[in-house]
Parts: sequence; C-alpha cells; structure tokens
Amino acid sequence: MSHSPIDRTAAWEVLAGHAGEMRKRHLHELFEDSQRGRTFTRKAAGLTLDLSKQRWSEATLERLLDLAREAGVPEAIEALLAGERVNVSENRPALHTALRLPSDASLVVEGEDLVPGVHATLAKLEAMVERFHTRQWRGATGHPIHDVVNLGVGGSDLGPLMVTHALADYRPADAAHIDVHFASTMDGSQLVDYLSRFNPETTLFVISSKSFTTIDTLSNARTARDWLLSRLVRDGNGGVDEAMVMRQHFIGVSAKPEKMSEWGIAEANQLEFWEWVGGRYSLWGAIGLPIALVVGMAHFRDFLAGAHAMDRHFAGAPLADNLPVLLALAGIWNVNFLDIRAHSILPYDGRLEYFAAYLEQLEMESNGKSATHDGREVAYSTCPVLWGQLGPNAQHAFYQLLHQGTQPVVCDFIAPLRRYDDVAEPETREHLKSQHRLTLANCFAQSRLLMLGDDAIDEPGERPGHKRYRGNQPSTTLLLDRLSPATLGALIALYEHKVYVQATIWGINPFDQWGVELGKQIAGETEEILANHAGGEHMDASTRALVAAVWQAEAD
Ligand code: F6P
Repeated sequence: MSHSPIDRTAAWEVLAGHAGEMRKRHLHELFEDSQRGRTFTRKAAGLTLDLSKQRWSEATLERLLDLAREAGVPEAIEALLAGERVNVSENRPALHTALRLPSDASLVVEGEDLVPGVHATLAKLEAMVERFHTRQWRGATGHPIHDVVNLGVGGSDLGPLMVTHALADYRPADAAHIDVHFASTMDGSQLVDYLSRFNPETTLFVISSKSFTTIDTLSNARTARDWLLSRLVRDGNGGVDEAMVMRQHFIGVSAKPEKMSEWGIAEANQLEFWEWVGGRYSLWGAIGLPIALVVGMAHFRDFLAGAHAMDRHFAGAPLADNLPVLLALAGIWNVNFLDIRAHSILPYDGRLEYFAAYLEQLEMESNGKSATHDGREVAYSTCPVLWGQLGPNAQHAFYQLLHQGTQPVVCDFIAPLRRYDDVAEPETREHLKSQHRLTLANCFAQSRLLMLGDDAIDEPGERPGHKRYRGNQPSTTLLLDRLSPATLGALIALYEHKVYVQATIWGINPFDQWGVELGKQIAGETEEILANHAGGEHMDASTRALVAAVWQAEAD
C-alpha cells in the first residue's frame, strides 16, 4: 500500500499523461468500437452498470485499476468489512454492512460478535411494527395510531424519506391504515402543517437522532410534545396524563439511550443503535423504522438482503468486475483527470424522487473533504458538486445546460427495466407500460445525445450555433431489473461502497463530518444574540445589520 500522496504515485502520473491523449478524443470516436457497450457493462445483485459512455478506454481502466491497487483499495475493502477502525478521526469502525448481515452470520469485532445485537434490534423493530399493523398500538385515548411523523434530519431523515417513497408500492394490506410523514426543517414549517391537520389522539412521533442533540430535531420534538400535551392532557379526557402521552405517542431512535430517557422517551419505546453506524449510513437498522412501518418487516428484510448481496459482491468480485470499484474509478477519472467537477443524478422513475437528495448527503458529507488522514491539505480535487432531480422533469429544467452550457457535467441515469406488470386492470396496465416505455426512450435518448451531440442525428448541412450540440458529456447508465426492496438495497449499497473506494483513493475519511460543526456553534451564539436583543458587537457589519433587522421586526 502506498504511503505517499496519491498524486505523487507513478500510477497517478501515468494517468495524467494518458488523460492528455484522452481529452482530445470525442465519445463518438470511441464508439466506433461496436463492442464497447459490452466491454464496459457489468451486472450484480439485480443491477446492470453500463459505463461505456464514460470518456475512457480499456487502457484508461487498466491504469485506474493500477491506481486503486496503489491506493490499497483491496486492503481497505477488507478492513471496512472486518470492522477495523476505518473512521480514523473518531477512532471507530464504520459497520453499516453489519446491519445487513443475515442472522446465521457472525462478525466478531474486537472480541464481540455483532450479529446477535443487530438481530435483537430487528426483532424489537418487528414487534413494534406488528403492534402498529395490528392496531394494537393505540394513542392515550384508546384509538389506533394513524399518522406517524418522523422527526429527524440528515441521515435520520433522508434515507427513510427516500426509501418509503421509493417502495410505497410494496405496502402490505395491514399497513394501509398507517400514514408516515417526515418533518426535518428546524423552522417548523413542515411540522406546523401536520399539526394543523392531524388528530393528536391518533398521531405518534418518532424522534430519530443518532446524537439526540441535534437542535433541528429537538426543536420540532419539543413543539410536538407541547402540542400533544396541551391537546390530550385535560380534565374529562379519561384521566389521560403526561406519562401516558409520552408512552403512547413517542418513540425514540438513537445511539444515546440516556439522552432519550432524559427527554422523556419511555424505555420500552427506545430503539438503540451503535456509535459504529454513521448517521448517513444508518437507514439499515432502527433508523429504518418508518421504512418497516410502510413496507412491512418482510420487505424490510428483503431490502437488507439486497444490500448484503452487494456487500458480498464488493468483498469478492475482482476489482475489474466490481461495480462499486468501477463506479468509483469512473468518478476519479472525471474529477481528477478530465476536470469534470459537476455530477448529476437523474432517476427515470418517479418513485426515486428523493434519491438525488439522499445521495447529496451520502457523497458530499462523506467526501467533501480536503484534509487527508494525516491532516495534510490535498493538492487535488475530491468530491464533485452533486445534485439531481427526476430525469424527465429535469429535461424541462436544467438539461439545457447539460446540452449547450459551458460546464462539463457527468450524469448517472437510473431506470428500472420492468414496471407495472402487476397492475390488475389490463387497459390501464397497457397505458402505464407504454408510459414506462416512453420514459426509457427518453432516458436512452438523452444519454445518447449527451454523448454524441449533433452526430446523434443524420441531418445534412451545417447547423446554426444556437442549434448545435457538442456532445462528449460522459454518463453512466444503471438499470435495475425492477425497483424492488432488494434492488433498492443493492443500489444504495453500491453508492455507499463507491464513496468508500473514492475516499480510499483520495486518502480522506468518509465517515466523519467535522465541517458541519463550527456552523452549529456559531448559530448557537447568534441565536442568543437574537433572543437577548443585545450583543454581537464583535460580528462583521453585514451580520450585525441582519441581526438588527430582526430586532427591528420583533419590535414593530
Ligand atoms: O450535522 C450533520 C449531521 O451530524 C449528519 O451527519 C447527521 O446525519 C445529521 O446531522 C443528524 O444527526 P443526528 O442523527 O445525530 O440528529
């Protein structure tokens, strides 16, 4: 394994020289090789990864694989999965993969087998879900719970939000009476909408926070608690008291049981997880409660099994056939050698509406770093700016820039091959299937046009400048056999591992997020100044004026 900075290695230097040649080549030229599609396509765990529209050649890939070996990627994969302390700055393992191990597996880390604990939590989760689905979980006045509101932010929100939306078709009949909602914003605007519409007697809040100190979540939780207590604890309401409300209307999910207890979460309603699960990697366990409530425990277990299938592939497949490694290398090539620093995530399936938002945290909070493990400032780019939107909608929004703007952008197109097979009514099924076909046609057309530019059509004569398409924008296409709990699990695990491989090559820690800490501290001080209507003399002129405007607004 190399200990010198990655950009000083021979493999990097070779790639930099090679990039000089590859930059001159247009994708339409590379596609003169009719085998190219096959050469750069791999399959695993219900996913097909087509990397042929990347601006690279087989020689490029060989050299990138050398770089991966030089960076110690095979050893790093082993270290991650074995539970070594890969989260160096926080001195702990990052064991989200342990959350999806089957019950008959064993993973002994520092003397303890983690699998029994993981499955004990799943059993507790299952028992809770069962009580909701069988209408046994009742509010303080005796009515079954109807609305479950997840209060959490970042990793305690985005994963469950994305997956419950993506897998809503998999809702079993016994979950039909449960509606799951999400409130994350600290300003309370999502929550206040729910409070204005929901019945407190049939509403339950899940407070999801690994640290149980996140002000965004605790502010929403306090408002929710006051709302419930003021509505439910009153004379003539069947002797409902505060303890009953807390017991029947709140569940806590956290790595800090003592903080949950302090806040008032009944011990039986606490779902715990471990410090060795990172927030943005936590949807596989207790944080996944909203997912299990919507899709049922059997589907939740399928979701875990799909992720585990990708873990096994990641652990065992040779680097040249390893989907997460290949996806990571395509990214490294674009960012570090072709200078493409914008990356768009474009799912062609409405159920994946929140997938881009989820990946924004996974990728940018993990790899938006500039200090290496030993504290050195990197001399190369790391995580690109990543954003996205449902592809068909983005076609009518920002594709103009992809096709004719001045920024090079790499795109991930994601689509299911099969859809609507199970719609009962034949005529509706045919209409919907044709809509799916239309969507795939658009997906494939866009990646082809981005690649070929004007060469995608056979039209004689020169085109005026404003109608010209230069093409040569690289992309990846990811096809899911169908969008199911298992393939979604595999898809998420694919991106998790991609992030890890890139971090390994860049020499950074993907499992901490120190860059968000100082902002929290300064916000705390600023809040005090706002509330006290005093102080802030040390602040800059712009912030002082903004604060004064708030004081004035409050005084008016
Ligand atoms: O501020 C960033 C962050 O710590 C994320 O990493 C995390 O997912 C989110 O806040 C929420 O944290 P918690 O689950 O501890 O409330």
